[in-house]
Amino acid sequence: MTNVPATEASATADASSQSLTVRDNRTGAEYELQITDGTIRAGELGQIRVDADEPGLAVYDPGFTNTASCRSAITYIDGDKGILEYRGYPIEQLAEKSNFLEVAYLLINGELPTKEQYEEWVHEITYHTFVHENVKEFVQGFRYDAHPMGMLMASVGALSTFYPEATNIADEQNRHLQIVRMIAKMPTLGAWAFRHAQGKPFVYPDNDLNYTENFLSMLFKMSESKFAADPRLAKALDVLLILHADHEQNCSTNAVRSVGSSQVDPYSAVSAGIGALYGPLHGGANEAVLRMLKRIGTKENIPAFIEGVKNGEERLMGFGHRVYKNYDPRAKLIKKACDDVFEVTGVNPLLEIAQELEKIALSDEYFVKRRLYPNVDFYSGLIYEALQFPPEMFTVLFAIGRAPGWLAQWNELVTDKEQKIARPKQIYTGDRGLDFVPASERWA
Ligand SMILES: CC(C)(COP(=O)(O)OP(=O)(O)OC[C@H]1O[C@@H](n2cnc3c(N)ncnc32)[C@H](O)[C@@H]1OP(=O)(O)O)[C@@H](O)C(=O)NCCC(=O)NCCS
Repeated sequence: MTNVPATEASATADASSQSLTVRDNRTGAEYELQITDGTIRAGELGQIRVDADEPGLAVYDPGFTNTASCRSAITYIDGDKGILEYRGYPIEQLAEKSNFLEVAYLLINGELPTKEQYEEWVHEITYHTFVHENVKEFVQGFRYDAHPMGMLMASVGALSTFYPEATNIADEQNRHLQIVRMIAKMPTLGAWAFRHAQGKPFVYPDNDLNYTENFLSMLFKMSESKFAADPRLAKALDVLLILHADHEQNCSTNAVRSVGSSQVDPYSAVSAGIGALYGPLHGGANEAVLRMLKRIGTKENIPAFIEGVKNGEERLMGFGHRVYKNYDPRAKLIKKACDDVFEVTGVNPLLEIAQELEKIALSDEYFVKRRLYPNVDFYSGLIYEALQFPPEMFTVLFAIGRAPGWLAQWNELVTDKEQKIARPKQIYTGDRGLDFVPASERWA
């Protein structure tokens, strides 16, 4: 479990027992540390020291595997039970009954919109989809084979130079405007990165279309006067964006918060998040799943592949998760979206292999014992491929979906009085007090 809700923590014991007694065996001293919401304040450990002039005790936690960096009311995950909620609403209900822009509003504002608020929000996003013509020019300046994720990262960062007022992060209205701009312009920038790689002309936003239809139009429109996406494909893509919209303090969100804690503008902070997502340990697993399925090739090869996984020769990509020790709730929903997409595009033959692989793995002792279940990436690559996206665009789609989450987390950060500039400690392992010998003497 990654979240400990306040109510759950306080229900387990009365207030007087909400403390931790620590005995320092170096000195025999005892300390009482307050437990709040299942955590102790790392700063309080600083009072535990052998000598007054020595630094106090600190925690060593590479990768922040057991460190809460903030209080957040945005996303709740219970990895053991396979629960994911945005602002308290189960992901299953949002995927089935809402749409991406409404979910974005929910994440950022904390509540579902009224009819007027929703219409205003959709209007604002729709009318901010255009970018300055100079943006087009510098996107055209990338090499023909530039990775679209690098282009997206650079162009989102560059937006900070077009909106210098974005540095005024203390102003709520100003923050709102930048949030709208970023959610509105990310599909334009992502689509143009895609078109640039293909050597195709850029397609301007079409304000008559909804968010996802407009994105598909900017990606795939050719000479037709109006691009009409199949509504089932547009809906499936919309669901995928919802499923990726937030996932609490993951690597890229932590990057946005860490960079944002310097009080830089949100374009720079989100650009850092895109950089984090670009890495193969974060956003790249669905591409690896596709490669794996292609390599397996036929159902007959599955048993030998599974044996290889069990012998430690390879990994079953798209299985297992640091947090989910149960079926990733997003994977279930993506499986359903697969059916909808394949109804339009025809079945991807790799789906059969994926389903058989899942069936065998879920009944195999190796995977059951280790609580390895399909994660969000197991089926998403199949859908993206069916929608005609090349693998290097998969992470761009993830970034567009994650934008509202990053921005909600950034907004929460800058309005949280407890937050400070992110600055972890280190355990210094290098030399001390060496005498510098000038190069002229060292090389003599
Ligand atoms: C996601 C992932 C990195 C989580 O790693 P983690 O929480 O550090 O889990 P561990 O690597 O400690 O794995 C625990 C055990 O399960 C095994 N395991 C984990 N994922 C596995 C997989 N996909 N295939 C085969 N075995 C796996 C490990 O070998 C380990 O076995 P051991 O106890 O015998 O050594 C890991 O499950 C993985 O590499 N999955 C495949 C890549 C993927 O789909 N990533 C997308 C995540 S959204």
